[in-house]
Amino acid sequence: MAGPCVLVIFGVTGDLSRKKLMPAIYDLANRGLLPPGFGLVGFARRDWADQDFAKQVHDSVKENARTPFREEVWQQLLEGIRFVPGEFNDDNAFRTLKRTIQELDESRGTGGNHAFYLSIPPGFFDDVVGQLRRHGMAESNGRQWSRVVIEKPFGHDLESARELNQIVSTVFAPESVFRIDHYLGKETVQNLIAFRFANALYEPVWNNHYVSDVQITMAEDIGIEGRAGYYDGIGAARDVIQNHLLQLMALTAMEEPTSFDAAQLRTEKQKVLAAAKPPADIDVHTARGQYAAGWQGGEQVRGYLDEEGISPSSTTETYAAIRVDVDNRRWAGVPFYLRTAKRMPRRVTEIALNFKRALHLPFTHADTEGMGTNALVMRIQPDEGITMRFGAKVPSTQMEIREVSMNFNYGGSFTESSPEAYERLILDVLLGDPPLFPQHEEVELSWQILDPVLNHWEESGTQPEQYASGTWGPKCGVEMLARDGFVWRRP
Ligand SMILES: NC(=O)c1ccc[n+]([C@@H]2O[C@H](COP(=O)([O-])OP(=O)(O)OC[C@H]3O[C@@H](n4cnc5c(N)ncnc54)[C@H](OP(=O)(O)O)[C@@H]3O)[C@@H](O)[C@H]2O)c1
Repeated sequence: MAGPCVLVIFGVTGDLSRKKLMPAIYDLANRGLLPPGFGLVGFARRDWADQDFAKQVHDSVKENARTPFREEVWQQLLEGIRFVPGEFNDDNAFRTLKRTIQELDESRGTGGNHAFYLSIPPGFFDDVVGQLRRHGMAESNGRQWSRVVIEKPFGHDLESARELNQIVSTVFAPESVFRIDHYLGKETVQNLIAFRFANALYEPVWNNHYVSDVQITMAEDIGIEGRAGYYDGIGAARDVIQNHLLQLMALTAMEEPTSFDAAQLRTEKQKVLAAAKPPADIDVHTARGQYAAGWQGGEQVRGYLDEEGISPSSTTETYAAIRVDVDNRRWAGVPFYLRTAKRMPRRVTEIALNFKRALHLPFTHADTEGMGTNALVMRIQPDEGITMRFGAKVPSTQMEIREVSMNFNYGGSFTESSPEAYERLILDVLLGDPPLFPQHEEVELSWQILDPVLNHWEESGTQPEQYASGTWGPKCGVEMLARDGFVWRRP
């Protein structure tokens, strides 16, 4: 359970806040993980009173919360809800914010502990962090803490990531900065650590002696959903590979940390990212595409270039795939393929380890025609669990071996439903528990892997290859793996 504190959310009228943050705060309260001395302050430009904001929180909780609505929990939360209207460059608004927080400190007994969640366009980080410093709201001391939470994207390349870090680190100490990569808050991602290091069975084969290739996929079945302003010019690689997929790769490839302690975990992830090399030949080891019109869920959908707010000559990719080689003893020779795309046939995120064929098969070629390679698939979302694929004898008088699956499903094995990633992460911010938040060094190393790819794509000036909506991506993606002798999994 978190200690007494105030959580201030900038950009509280935005999409993220409505869909994820407000419901997560309520769910934490409902699970008894927020203290009685809790205050929630919203900040945005609307001319709202506290009651208007409370109504928005109420509506988004009713619509999106995971746990059932309970009036007594809501009433307790309501007592600590405040709203401060204002622009980020408005000194008066920040004076009002400070007074509001002080009033909550006294009325709710929050002990002067404050977390500031910047759920705002990254271009405003500078303004808000500067205001917090000028108005004396950014200081921590032995008795009270002040923390800042920032959302991805952490810059749009290495240089801007460094600038962003410079802005934040001049005001907040590294241990007070919490960078949210919400994938790390997912139960299934944390289970990757449990699966690898709590069991004796898998780690002996988790290396280049047995694994042939690793495929990490995050596929979405939707398009840009009206978010042209955010997405165009950013694209799939910056939006997903730089953060979520490289973090998943680091957790998959890292050595065992000495403990599940933030410093140890980050050290091991950093070592992987430092050993990971950008693709040697970018034309050969990357692929990018853009969705064209097609069929999705039985409906005809338009192509990216026809989406509202997108220029007909946009070269932004909605499909990105890259090969990364982790140059260390455990992984030398094993390609890691990372791919993400919009308008795929299914929404799915998974990490698949494909294994080498047995060195010797005491069967005829015909016996094993229906046998694929062994694979271990960590299903991150939406059907959370683990699948193992292996060859089994087909019941008959002959020896015929065919590929089958063994499945573990979270839903079937545990009665508790998984908390949302934002519940875990917000709670960890309030507790000051940092293992699940990437450090600036990891952000920089990730950009060092991706920058050469993005620069090359930009310099080429060519249009990404079109793929029909509702398919598994462009031909160049298939060819990229075929050249290495592999095929993409169809999740
Ligand atoms: N949406 C997602 O699913 C998602 C996922 C991952 C990361 N993120 C990141 O989370 C952050 C927020 O995303 P979002 O989608 O919620 O953004 P959004 O819908 O565009 O909301 C932006 C918020 O900032 C406020 N704002 C903008 N300019 C302002 C100004 N000058 N002064 C005061 N308030 C201002 C807006 O308030 P008013 O216009 O009401 O004043 C609004 O509340 C971004 O950094 C985004 O990249 C979002």
